Amino acid sequence: MNRLIQRLIATSVLVGGLIMGFSHADEPIVIKFSHVVADTTPKGQGALLFKKLAEERLPGQVQVEVYPNSSLYGDGQEMDALLVGDVHILAPSLAKFEHFQKKIQLFDLPFLFDNMEALDRFQQSEAGQSLLTSMEDKGITGLGYWHNGLKQLSANKALQVPRDARGLKFRVQNSAVLDEQFKALRANPRKMAFAEMYQGLQTGVVNGAENPYTNIYSQKIHEVQSHITESNHGVLDYMLITNTDFWNGLPENVRNELTDIIAEVTVEVNNQAAALNERDKQSIIDAGTTEIIYLTPEQREAWRDAVRPVWEKFQDQVGAELIEAALQSNNPQ
Ligand code: LMR
Repeated sequence: MNRLIQRLIATSVLVGGLIMGFSHADEPIVIKFSHVVADTTPKGQGALLFKKLAEERLPGQVQVEVYPNSSLYGDGQEMDALLVGDVHILAPSLAKFEHFQKKIQLFDLPFLFDNMEALDRFQQSEAGQSLLTSMEDKGITGLGYWHNGLKQLSANKALQVPRDARGLKFRVQNSAVLDEQFKALRANPRKMAFAEMYQGLQTGVVNGAENPYTNIYSQKIHEVQSHITESNHGVLDYMLITNTDFWNGLPENVRNELTDIIAEVTVEVNNQAAALNERDKQSIIDAGTTEIIYLTPEQREAWRDAVRPVWEKFQDQVGAELIEAALQSNNPQ
């Protein structure tokens, strides 16, 4: 091989490495992990544990930078940043994948999973695991599912029965399913970035929201909402994702070690999520700003009936078989 060709190859390897975040052989690989929530939440804790373990077990080889609270990229920018290699790991909520994989809309169908255990069973099933690799043609590799918790409705009035939500403006994530869920209640959904929710509620741009307790407490949503209805009507869960080219281009030993670390962190996040939600629910009660409403089984059934038509609307996009598989996870053998 002549010198010129050798130099061209060396340069392109170096440039390729730099684009994907690898630097000089002596320098650690920088992994940027960006997310939109607080450090105290399940995702926030998971990101910090990932950093700790990765830097402990791959000393000098890997450096992890965690950017919480939309401090690097917020909703609407983080996916693009991942695709161009400006960040390397994200954990968007499952509501935020509709442009990449319509089947993932499954997770937002209201009242689909009876509880977090059912959700977990589905995610560990073959159908659930296959969704992790279903976006690789678009440059996104799923590394695992991280839990937050069940969503609760909040507003500045008591929401006891579905008609109480009529006409209210609810902040929703950028999700067609969640949009339809509130339309089914004859409420007005407003798509809004997570970072803008507090101000939206404070200024009255929106009157209500749906969040798990960890996000309500860490975003101080309880300070601007007089009532929370413990509706448990849907899940807020995450897919930990990476840029496929970045991941496949990592040195094999690094990728294998990171894979093991992620498996360990995933277990930890998913074991802790329920306790963190309970802790933050208690903090909301202690703050005394917000009344928590508990529904009777009949009232909960009325909410379920009101939003159930949403399933049919998305059945073709999600697939009836996938919905069936999810329902089966409610009834373990
Ligand atoms: C939201 O936008 O409400 C959530 O996706 C935020 C999060 O990441 O928990």
